Amino acid sequence: MASKMVLDLFCFTVLVLCMANPSLEQEIFDPMDFEAMGDGETDDGQALVDAWDSACEHRAPAIFVIPKRTFLAGPATFEGPCRVTPKVQILGTVKAVPSMNDYYNPGWFEFKHLNGLEIGGGGTLDGQGAASWNKTNCPPKRSCKSLPISMRLLRVSNATISNLTFMNSKGFHIGLQQSSSVTISRLRISAPADSPNTDGIHISRSDNVMLTSLNIGTGDDCISIGQGVNNLQISDVTCGPGHGISVGSLGKYMNEEDVSGVSVRNCTVSGTTNGVRIKTWPGSPPSQASNFTFEDIIMHNVSNPIIIDQHYCPDHDCVVSPSRVKIQNVTFRRIQGTSNDPVAVKLMCSETMACENVHLQDISLIMENNTATSNITSSCSNVKGVAVGLQNPESCLY
Ligand SMILES: *[C@@H]1O[C@H](CO)[C@@H](O)[C@H](O)[C@H]1NC(C)=O
Ligand SMILES: *[C@@H]1O[C@H](CO)[C@@H](O)[C@H](O)[C@H]1NC(C)=O
Ligand SMILES: *[C@@H]1O[C@H](CO)[C@@H](O)[C@H](O)[C@H]1NC(C)=O
Ligand SMILES: *[C@@H]1O[C@H](CO)[C@@H](O)[C@H](O)[C@H]1NC(C)=O
Ligand SMILES: *[C@@H]1O[C@H](CO)[C@@H](O)[C@H](O)[C@H]1NC(C)=O
Ligand SMILES: *[C@@H]1O[C@H](CO)[C@@H](O)[C@H](O)[C@H]1NC(C)=O
Ligand SMILES: *[C@@H]1O[C@H](CO)[C@@H](O)[C@H](O)[C@H]1NC(C)=O
Ligand SMILES: *[C@@H]1O[C@H](CO)[C@@H](O)[C@H](O)[C@H]1NC(C)=O
Ligand SMILES: *[C@@H]1O[C@H](CO)[C@@H](O)[C@H](O)[C@H]1NC(C)=O
Repeated sequence: MASKMVLDLFCFTVLVLCMANPSLEQEIFDPMDFEAMGDGETDDGQALVDAWDSACEHRAPAIFVIPKRTFLAGPATFEGPCRVTPKVQILGTVKAVPSMNDYYNPGWFEFKHLNGLEIGGGGTLDGQGAASWNKTNCPPKRSCKSLPISMRLLRVSNATISNLTFMNSKGFHIGLQQSSSVTISRLRISAPADSPNTDGIHISRSDNVMLTSLNIGTGDDCISIGQGVNNLQISDVTCGPGHGISVGSLGKYMNEEDVSGVSVRNCTVSGTTNGVRIKTWPGSPPSQASNFTFEDIIMHNVSNPIIIDQHYCPDHDCVVSPSRVKIQNVTFRRIQGTSNDPVAVKLMCSETMACENVHLQDISLIMENNTATSNITSSCSNVKGVAVGLQNPESCLY
């Protein structure tokens, strides 16, 4: 009798506790319990995937933890859907296997088909890209045009990625594709200024994305925005070195989806080859890019602080027909600081598809080096729009 009462009391207490504090139910899945070595030398990729798979199968909320040690790992796919999407806590450092022979996916870490994904923890993903940046080290069977993205997110929704450090990716640091309702914040992303194609964050075919509180310096775009992006808000980003914050390049492929609704606010861009940019390829098939706002941006020693380039052709091997990406509704507002190039504002639009409704408002750019002899200027071609408020350089839009 007494023991039944004790048991009832115990069950009652546990129930109350469980209901009051659901975190008690959260089980932790740690690769160290799945035969990881965590010594920074053994490839623990499989142990990471095994821990994830168990967390994903778990019937109750789970936490997939990469503990505070150093791991080495080759490619790993963290796939859903899960019974309950596990929380991901990266506390330690994971280094990518350097050799390109080991990679067969577009990403190093791939998170796929997940709703309600949360990744954080303050840890570090080190892509150990140096060896792969040298094209002579590219294995014969692989095209090194697209090196593995350190963290690729494919078809994720309602996701947050925050409080992490990314460094020295082989390809892009983060790639977000075919996803919706994603917030990426409080990240530090770094790679050398001369590392090729190490974009900080690349986004394509995704809706309702917010990027905020990021510190990015790499060898390519801090943030690049590809086709099919709608409603993207970027704020509080510190960018540099690198190629700036770029929409594009657009129009390289057939049947690209339109881009619309991108805002970039409260950002500081330093020592980059571009500030805020929209770029499209010559000869591109028809598509539309519309509704952009770039405002409250501070430039320090930026080569092209404001640029629309519809003749983007980095390897100079393009067809010479005009781009057919139609650009319209673009506002550049309250952009100030220093330019490293005397032509600080370049609006070079397509010969057949003029840019329309381009607004320049309160632009205040001076030469980085006051001793430079040339005056700061702007240059326009095939662009319709207006300039209001302060214009330094004097606007070419009238
Ligand atoms: C970021 O991660 C660190 C290390 O795990 C943690 O101490 C800190 O609370 C996290 N910050 C936020 C805002 O979550
Ligand atoms: C690239 O690798 C080759 C062969 O390993 C080496 O000879 C060359 O110096 C490297 N180049 C750079 C820029 O590191
Ligand atoms: C994201 O979350 C919202 C609200 O919880 C939900 O309605 C929506 O279906 C989720 N999105 C996806 C793609 O599951
Ligand atoms: C930009 O910064 C200002 C002043 O710090 C702040 O009031 C505003 O909310 C910020 N806007 C965004 C979109 O971050
Ligand atoms: C661009 O913004 C305008 C005005 O807010 C809106 O009417 C239009 O639908 C937007 N365009 C696209 C393609 O979303
Ligand atoms: C400005 O940028 C140029 C080109 O990147 C660089 O050579 C120069 O040292 C920079 N100036 C300052 C003051 O940082
Ligand atoms: C451009 O802006 C105008 C006015 O806000 C709007 O009517 C039009 O739909 C926009 N164009 C596109 C392609 O969104
Ligand atoms: C400015 O330019 C002069 C002449 O080109 C150069 O000697 C000087 O170092 C430059 N100063 C800065 C701050 O870049
Ligand atoms: C720069 O602008 C000033 C004032 O408009 C003018 O006097 C000067 O000749 C210009 N210098 C050059 C190199 O164009």
